[in-house]
Amino acid sequence: MRTYEIASIPGDGIGVDVTAEARKVLDEAASLHDFRLRWTEFDWSCERYARTGSMMPEDGIARLAGFDGILLGAVGFPGVPDHVSLWGLLIPVRRAFAQYVNLRPVRLLPGTGSVLRGRSAEELEMVIVRENSEGEYSAIGGRHNTGQPSEFVLQESVFTRVGVERIIRYAFELARTRDGRLCSATKSNGLIHSMPYWDEIFAEIAAEYPDVKSEQCHVDALAARMVQHPERLDVIVASNLFGDILSDLAAAVTGGLGMAPSGNINPPGEHPSMFEAVHGSAPDIAGQGIANPVAQVLAGAMMLDHLGETVAAQAVRSAVDAVLEAKEVATPDLGGTATTEQLGTAVTGALLAP
Ligand code: NAD
Ligand code: IPM
Ligand code: MN
Repeated sequence: MRTYEIASIPGDGIGVDVTAEARKVLDEAASLHDFRLRWTEFDWSCERYARTGSMMPEDGIARLAGFDGILLGAVGFPGVPDHVSLWGLLIPVRRAFAQYVNLRPVRLLPGTGSVLRGRSAEELEMVIVRENSEGEYSAIGGRHNTGQPSEFVLQESVFTRVGVERIIRYAFELARTRDGRLCSATKSNGLIHSMPYWDEIFAEIAAEYPDVKSEQCHVDALAARMVQHPERLDVIVASNLFGDILSDLAAAVTGGLGMAPSGNINPPGEHPSMFEAVHGSAPDIAGQGIANPVAQVLAGAMMLDHLGETVAAQAVRSAVDAVLEAKEVATPDLGGTATTEQLGTAVTGALLAP
């Protein structure tokens, strides 16, 4: 039987609850489609940090290296500064495994309300291709003249030619397989080194793809367009920080953070890719068992696609659609009273045999 070795890192807060439900759905999908997911769970989290002083063991990256995929819950919880927890686990994994594409597809799921009332599912379907390995997320910089009136901090960004070219090329290739429209989000009117450089490389690569209708947009105007004219958007490519912000916005306009999945992809497949929800550990609702597990389940479907189990991945998405459309089992963010576990069980039960 086809067997895949999967690392599970539930992490913090609601990450733990939604990962349990995703595993339940994925195991059932695997059994219906004649393959097996063999899970190894890692307790890397803020709780581990409190116990040991580190988010993961020193050889953590080496321990993940041999897996076929990684399913991550969420990282970060009050008590540990966010930059400590995230730079202690999530960001090092993305970088060590050259997961330079952060793919964040959004679509309007059936039965869910968009804040953009009246929009059809066709109008609200886009994918954000976020640069995931460099850019504004940088540890270079520091505090100067500490304690003096002239105190200041410097925070550097790093945009390498290799890094910018590969993410833009990935986005063009993806646009080719879809509607053939690509928008590059920058802020070249404000940031005078990094963003004009990105635009320059974007224009160079655009010349290689005359069949793709590409445009360069200012990220601020793009944010407004995402709300007012989402139908004009298809693939969006953006730097690490802009892609991060745009993906929460895209999630919000298509029904909420509880339903937006994300894949940290290493395109050559030399290293494992990692799948997670766009959302975080949601401390405001953690421990209540009421988080929406759909985002994590759909991240699991992205992982199945990545493993080549595309029929099972589609079955998972169809099961999610069926449950949401029926509106009988819905978590509070969807206007219902169901628990995380009940929604996970409903999706599992809605999986159809091939
Ligand atoms: P968040 O995404 O955790 O929560 C934002 C809001 O969305 C909250 O009101 C929350 O209740 C709601 N929400 C999120 N997911 C939901 C779900 N599945 N169902 C229902 N409601 C949901 O963002 P935040 O509060 O800014 O961050 C909390 C912590 O998570 C921080 O430590 C942050 O650094 C971390 N974080 C981690 C990741 C990750 O591991 N990939 C991503 C984002 C944030
Ligand atoms: C995400 C998160 C992370 C990011 C944070 C927690 C570092 O917001 O995965 O979207 O910005 O990459
Ligand atoms: Mn984010």
